[in-house]
Amino acid sequence: MSDIYEPPEGLKASAHIHAMQDYRNRYAESIGDPAKFWGEIAKGFHWQTTPTADKFLTYNFDIRKGPIAIKWMEDGVTNICYNCLDRHLPQKGSQIAFYWEGNDLEDEKTITYSELHREVCKFANVLKRNGVKKGDCVAVYMPMIPELIISMLACSRIGAVHSIVFGGYSAESLAARIIDGGIRTLVTADGVWRGNKLIHSLEVVDQAMAIAKKAGHPIEKNVVVRHLIRLHHGNGSASEKEAYEKILASSWNNERDSWWEDEMKEASEQCDVEWMQAEDPSFILYTSGSTGKPKGVLHTVAGYMLFAATTFKFTFDFRPDDVYWCTADIGWITGHTYVTYGPLLNGATSVLFEGTPFYPSNDRFWQVIQKYKVSKFYTAPTAIRALMKFGEDFVDKYDLSSLKVLGTVGEPINPEAWLWYHKYVGNSKAAIVDTYWQTETGGHVLTPLPGCTPTKPGSACFPFFGVIPVILDEEGKELEGPAEGYIAFKKPWPGIMRTVFGDHKRFEQIYFSRFPGYYMTGDGAKRDADGYIWITGRIDDMLNCSGTYCFDFLQLTPQTKMPLMHPGHLMSTAQVESALVEHSNVVEAAVVSCPHPVKGECLYCYVTPMEGVHIDASMAKELRILVREKIAPFASPDYIQEAIHLPKTRSGKIMRRILRQIAANDPDLGDTSTMADSTIIPSLQEGRRKVV
Ligand code: WTA
Repeated sequence: MSDIYEPPEGLKASAHIHAMQDYRNRYAESIGDPAKFWGEIAKGFHWQTTPTADKFLTYNFDIRKGPIAIKWMEDGVTNICYNCLDRHLPQKGSQIAFYWEGNDLEDEKTITYSELHREVCKFANVLKRNGVKKGDCVAVYMPMIPELIISMLACSRIGAVHSIVFGGYSAESLAARIIDGGIRTLVTADGVWRGNKLIHSLEVVDQAMAIAKKAGHPIEKNVVVRHLIRLHHGNGSASEKEAYEKILASSWNNERDSWWEDEMKEASEQCDVEWMQAEDPSFILYTSGSTGKPKGVLHTVAGYMLFAATTFKFTFDFRPDDVYWCTADIGWITGHTYVTYGPLLNGATSVLFEGTPFYPSNDRFWQVIQKYKVSKFYTAPTAIRALMKFGEDFVDKYDLSSLKVLGTVGEPINPEAWLWYHKYVGNSKAAIVDTYWQTETGGHVLTPLPGCTPTKPGSACFPFFGVIPVILDEEGKELEGPAEGYIAFKKPWPGIMRTVFGDHKRFEQIYFSRFPGYYMTGDGAKRDADGYIWITGRIDDMLNCSGTYCFDFLQLTPQTKMPLMHPGHLMSTAQVESALVEHSNVVEAAVVSCPHPVKGECLYCYVTPMEGVHIDASMAKELRILVREKIAPFASPDYIQEAIHLPKTRSGKIMRRILRQIAANDPDLGDTSTMADSTIIPSLQEGRRKVV
């Protein structure tokens, strides 16, 4: 039984929801009468036409009864940009919407709600002048700068569908998204510094446009933000400047490319909003490529708006005097929902951060929190683990006493990291919210609420309002009480995706076909005796581990005389990872299943040791003992490989698919374009020969 952490007293007293009973009551209302529950919430927004109760929700979640369809507030008419900006102007025009903190320490600026509104109107007019109309899809490929948010909102304002492509993606990835979305208009920047590294986006974008053109999808308009401040102010090195000029000269095409600032010069500050039907498309976002070919997840206007705003309000217990900071890039769903839409819909003041946690030094996060007196902070387990490495001294130097809520998202957080985050970043006084959700869910679906939920390190706790989680076995039977299996959802909540862009069949097939009647997340989970839910990782990362322990009880099936691996144990590799990182000399671990001639599947562990440490036979023995003790003998790792670096997506998710292929000695690693640094592959392949 793990420890329970009660909500901090200070928060509890003033929180929107400050008692579990209150949460339970409201949850029951949200499930019992969704139209009433969300109808009340909808009253806080501006509607050109208010949605009626009888059309509030219509859906079919059961593929056997017909096509999957989800419609919320179908007859409502609204606009998400209007609700993010115009609605707040009377009271909050001069309030800061974003503190922008650039890559370099001296790069900073603020943008108020009225300034943001003005820029959005102007850029919306630029888009219109360039022929963008309601329903057209616009791709945006940019670093974390205010113009990215301005572009998104300008699209929303005029009813264009935005497709944000993470600014670190390669030309091929960008081209694939241009082609899939039928994009004719692009918004980009000339480049960006990531730490000390200068990235010439101009070149990447030009290559992407060339690939797309060849495939019959020419870009007609590319509006480019002149962002390389250091260079333009004459502060870059001569060689950087020379390289830039060369790229500019070779890539620039006057017919197609124009500078943002030139376009904005003549643009009017008046721009009426385009009133949208609730179920009109709002944006497409391709899911991260840790598995297979990216899919364009489509979200619609009103349901997403309600869900983004409501989850933001309750999960972070939003208060008007908060300074909120989500470190995610807007190129991911976390950035869409919890950098742009959720905070703006609530009229919040946020930090928008362009840099990395490690530049100019490893304490940048803590420095920024101190600088802006951040009260709500949201980041990923991978960042926490990376920063833990540098020790507590890096955190202790800063005054982080403003922090009240600390969020995590993106991967299961191992209790080690949770406890470190709680103790050293939150000074044991902030609530931790481990938020589980997906690009597809639009917003948090499982999360503690900071003022009421007693938390257990590593558990995403309970469902958000309107969400009904179930744990299913292999046959799709709902498991009651403590159980482990596949996590699925029973009914739609407002923020759920509506389709895969251009491929509704794929949508039905991926999410609704294996367990008819449920939305399948693709993740595994377990429920403990207190009803807490623990996400155990992607289903691909689950394995039926028979291990040495089960092997002792090996049975032969009467029909086939083959070894019967059930009763194997359906377990997740995340549990093993979590045990491994408890070793004081381990920084990070990734565990995958690997084919085994006798057992069927076995456990293959990649372990990153602390600097200066090597995994020898005695450390491997300690690691195995640790796993046996923490989990069970059957989980004892079969192979342990030292890995100085783990392959990660650009959003920081460990690419276990690659690790599985390396473990299986499969030379074809498939698509590695979404990998942050593919140069580490040879050393991983090499390391395979030195397993202990
Ligand atoms: C994983 C990110 C455990 C999960 C918002 C999910 C998590 C995938 C958590 C979606 C969490 C996200 N605990 N696992 N708190 N949050 N995941 O689409 O496997 O980039 O299916 O959305 O991340 O990743 P995506």
